[in-house]
Amino acid sequence: MAFDLGPFLDRCRERVDGYLDRTLPPADRFPRPLFEAVRYSLFAGGKRIRPAFAIAAAEAVGGGAEEAVPLAAALEMVHTYSLIHDDLPAMDDDDLRRGRPTNHRVYGEGMAVLAGDALLTDAFLVLVEGSTLPAERVLQAVRVLARAAGSGGMVAGQALDLESEGRQLDLPTLEFLHTHKTGALIRASVVLGAIAAGAAPEATRALERYAERVGLAFQIADDVLDVEGTTEALGKPVGSDQGRAKATYPAVVGLAEAKRRAEELMREAEEYLDRFGPAGAPLRALARFVVERRH
Ligand code: IPE
Ligand code: IPE
Ligand code: MG
Ligand code: MG
Ligand code: MG
Repeated sequence: MAFDLGPFLDRCRERVDGYLDRTLPPADRFPRPLFEAVRYSLFAGGKRIRPAFAIAAAEAVGGGAEEAVPLAAALEMVHTYSLIHDDLPAMDDDDLRRGRPTNHRVYGEGMAVLAGDALLTDAFLVLVEGSTLPAERVLQAVRVLARAAGSGGMVAGQALDLESEGRQLDLPTLEFLHTHKTGALIRASVVLGAIAAGAAPEATRALERYAERVGLAFQIADDVLDVEGTTEALGKPVGSDQGRAKATYPAVVGLAEAKRRAEELMREAEEYLDRFGPAGAPLRALARFVVERRH
């Protein structure tokens, strides 16, 4: 019987949201606008796909969700920070996110910058204070997340994204952009799951190869949805990329080739899961979801 991803995603969301709610300061903490702004974006109903990747990876190598949850929460905090900053007028200048007005539209640009700063910084506190793992593995997790989020990962991708507005990129440069701005955090999600479970090095390497392909496919699908999706389903504006003349897969290789490439990456990713047998079913289903999703 095919693995049913819906209940798995629901379970991940419940666990991670419960953990975040217990861990983050309440919305009425002083100074109130900061804590309201943090919770406004964090609990706006994202897919929680990065936590799902972390938990699925932990389970693929025989671990439980329990140890992965604090790491998954830290990943979602970093991701939410990246969305708040990505939407700012100085970046993509978008007005809608997760079905709501963007953070800066409600709290102002200064507070949106600070809410993002808080989420990014506090994510590392959650890793260090929230995890029950041995210190050596916490250190590994901090290194993996910092590398993925910082100037060697997402921030480099976002910088190139800004630099590339209105310019035609060649395919290798576009692939660099996508693997950094989005792929790096998805790869880190899977690796953090492996660290939580204490995976063997060869298993971790197979998971990394899987995640590199899925991470690139995820951003290609995001680009395709900006062309073909609906605002209602996505909870963010469609046509935003074309409006800002962004470097996207559809813009560089066309819509049909972008979709073909995403599917090819999904199939390549799945091959790395053979060694995990039935325990790899959630990761297999996630790879398919990444390219078949409508939101
Ligand atoms: C959107 O990420 C931004 C990208 C990196 C493509 P998601 O599609 O995971 O957004 P949420 O978390 O569900 O809102
Ligand atoms: C965002 O890419 C990647 C991030 C690191 C946030 P996009 O700018 O395409 O994401 P959306 O479409 O606004 O969600
Ligand atoms: Mg952007
Ligand atoms: Mg954007
Ligand atoms: Mg996009």
